Amino acid sequence: MNNIKRIGINTGGGDAPGLNAVIHAAVYAARNRGWEIFGIRDGLDGLLEPETYPDGGLMKLTRPVVRNIAHLGGTILGTSNRGNPFRMRAPQPDGSVTEIDRSDDVVRRFREHRLDALISVGGDGTLGIARELNNKGLRVIGVPKTIDNDLQSTMTTFGFDSAVKFATECIDRLHFTAESHRRVMVVEVMGRYAGWIALHAGIAGRADAILIPEMPYDLAKVATHIKRKTAGPTRQYSIVVVAEGAKPVGGAVTLKEVANAGHVERLGGVGEIVANHLRELTGKETRAVVLGHLLRGGQPTSLDRSLGLIFGAAAVRALVEGHDGVMVAVNPPRIDYVPLGVATAKFKLVKTDDYGVMTARTLDISFGD
Ligand code: F6P
Repeated sequence: MNNIKRIGINTGGGDAPGLNAVIHAAVYAARNRGWEIFGIRDGLDGLLEPETYPDGGLMKLTRPVVRNIAHLGGTILGTSNRGNPFRMRAPQPDGSVTEIDRSDDVVRRFREHRLDALISVGGDGTLGIARELNNKGLRVIGVPKTIDNDLQSTMTTFGFDSAVKFATECIDRLHFTAESHRRVMVVEVMGRYAGWIALHAGIAGRADAILIPEMPYDLAKVATHIKRKTAGPTRQYSIVVVAEGAKPVGGAVTLKEVANAGHVERLGGVGEIVANHLRELTGKETRAVVLGHLLRGGQPTSLDRSLGLIFGAAAVRALVEGHDGVMVAVNPPRIDYVPLGVATAKFKLVKTDDYGVMTARTLDISFGD
């Protein structure tokens, strides 16, 4: 079981600050055991389309290559959230697009490269692919990554803290311009179907309202709240933080792109809609700001950097200890190894009795519910 000599590592899905720290630690831990380690480029594209890469899609990872990357944003391996080998887009001659399963190609090339195990770093999509590859016989260890904080089984992931920190800094800045113009500033943040980033940045940034997917909103209630809070002479502006997956009571999420052959749906645009409605309902000038991919950029916070190192080192330890088909989970003071099927079974969402929700309510922040 532990006859390991060469391993691969890939990063999949949206990038998140801390990915390079994972790679750094995994390389050092593997090299310390005398294993070779190779980075698969751009998710699994390095195995699927090797001819498109000068190095054949695999990057030999040595200590000098990764020595100075732990503090850097992004991922030196590249990533993709469009390359599920089980559901690859296949354009047809008639212009339509279907899906084909190319997972056998991944498994074959993995074996051709004589790789004994894969460390797969990603969110629920990437870890779901890792689970399916594990079912096909590849030895796989998953490392959870997401700025959205929506993975269950692990108390936290890297990327989330960096995203919340930057969102909070942006909200801090918006207070000045909102106050100067006596405006309602609506800030849309990422998070997919979970409201964690909005909740924590909204509390830290002292927002007046936080709209999250888990608690469908009624904008009439938000408007009443804003009018009450701005009625006095002291604070005549408002900050509303909206998660991209927030939706009105009885309504649906706002999409930029619907799901289509091998592509998942893309969320976004709800901030502008909320701003327009609040303008009508409050009679106040409103502006919408979308933070979008800025939340994924930049360097990891020290917390995310150390989490990345913790996860990378633990993934190699998992292989040393003989684990297979598991995700490394950080549940201080423990590191747990959770079956990939369990880890990806459902999203971790904000509960209505979450301590963050209770804190916000105590601080007179409206959820529009
Ligand atoms: O899952 C991370 C995330 O940043 C989500 O918050 C967001 O909905 C999505 O990825 C955006 O993906 P893309 O990079 O395809 O725009």
